This record gives sequence, C-alpha cells and structure tokens, in this order.
Amino acid sequence: MKPPEQIETERLLLRKPRMDDAPAVFSGWAKYPEVTRFLSWRPHENVTQTEGLVKRSIDGWDGETNFRYLLEIKESGELAGMIELRLEKETFKVSFGYTGAYAQWGKGYMTEAVRACIDWAFQQSGVVRVYATTDVDNIPSQRVLEKAGMQREGLLRKESIRPNMDPEPRDCYMYAIVK
Ligand SMILES: CC(C)(COP(=O)(O)OP(=O)(O)OC[C@H]1O[C@@H](n2cnc3c(N)ncnc32)[C@H](O)[C@@H]1OP(=O)(O)O)[C@@H](O)C(=O)NCCC(=O)NCCS
Repeated sequence: MKPPEQIETERLLLRKPRMDDAPAVFSGWAKYPEVTRFLSWRPHENVTQTEGLVKRSIDGWDGETNFRYLLEIKESGELAGMIELRLEKETFKVSFGYTGAYAQWGKGYMTEAVRACIDWAFQQSGVVRVYATTDVDNIPSQRVLEKAGMQREGLLRKESIRPNMDPEPRDCYMYAIVK
C-alpha cells in the first residue's frame, strides 16, 4: 500500500514536492510564527532550512511510512499548504498531519485535502480507521477535522511538545473516522 504521487480534488492537486518548491514553502508558511505555533518545529529563518524540509519530504516517498503532498491550487498554481499521510505497520489504520499556507487560511482548502486523504485511505483494502491529533487550543485544526467528518474520541494528556508554545508536553485531542 503506497499512496499515489498525485491526488486531484475539485480545486487542488495534491502532489509530491520538488526541490524548486522550497522558496514558496518558505514564504508561504515555514517562516511564520503564526503558522508554526502548534507545530513541532520552529519557524524557519531562511530558505536553506526550508530546503532541508522539502528534501526530507521528497526522501519520504522512497520509504514506507511518511508521504507528504503539497497542495497546489489548480487555478493559480499557488501552494495552499502541505499534508502528510502516515502509514503504519498495522495496515488497518492511517493517520495524517498538515500545515496551511498563511494567506490561504479559511478558504476550505485543508478540509478538501483531508477529505481526499480519507477517501484514498478507505479505498485501500483493510483500512478501517483514519486518525489525527491536534492541540487542545488549535480550534481551526479541530474545525477542519470535524468538517471532514471525523469525531473527537478523547483527550491525550501531555501528549506532544510544541516548542513554540511551551517546553512542557501539552494536551491533545484524538480525532478519527472509522469504516
Ligand atoms: C489548521 C489549518 C491547516 C486550517 O487550514 P484552512 O485551509 O484554513 O482550513 P479550512 O478553511 O478548511 O477550515 C478552517 C476552519 O477553522 C475556522 N477558524 C479559523 N480560525 C478560527 C478561530 N479562531 N476560531 C474558530 N474557528 C476558526 C474557519 O472559520 C474554518 O471553519 P468554517 O469553514 O466552519 O468557517 C491552518 O489554520 C493552519 O495551517 N494552521 C497552522 C498549522 C497547524 O496548526 N496545523 C495543524 C496541526 S494539527
């Protein structure tokens, strides 16, 4: 089970990143403290750092577990963000994580990408659970997961370090959709 290198939705092309995407990833989201607040990494100070991120994202496609897509807006060619599908040894479940381009927030793009990833996962034989976790204070992210049909299953206490917020582990919610 390996995700396709491209998934098309109504407004987006989810596609494997290329090295020449790094400047747009940097200026679109990686440099913003507002975007990285709830993430596990600090905002990038220069495009060289983002090249590292893009390189790791490309290399992930040679592995078995982490498959990152850029969200290309079909109409303009601009990037609306990134979503990562995560496969596990236990092939009945799939998870994901995402980051949206700052200028594109609130236009429904991430919800569209999440729905496409859930659809792909449930088309794979044996997959019965798709899940994601998010910080208890990350309201827009919770809204995305709910709009995509996922249910909040529980509170994960002291689950994740958010270095931009707090040195101590923070509480998260578990969201999932099952078939
Ligand atoms: C979470 C994120 C990807 C959402 O992307 P997006 O493309 O704006 O998502 P959508 O437009 O599909 O939906 C966002 C929803 O949050 C809502 N929202 C945004 N800010 C909000 C706020 N402060 N309070 C309540 N709702 C809020 C929007 O109104 C929208 O809901 P609606 O369609 O019901 O109006 C984006 O905010 C982001 O990149 N955040 C930083 C990175 C991050 O936190 N990633 C997730 C880690 S788990």
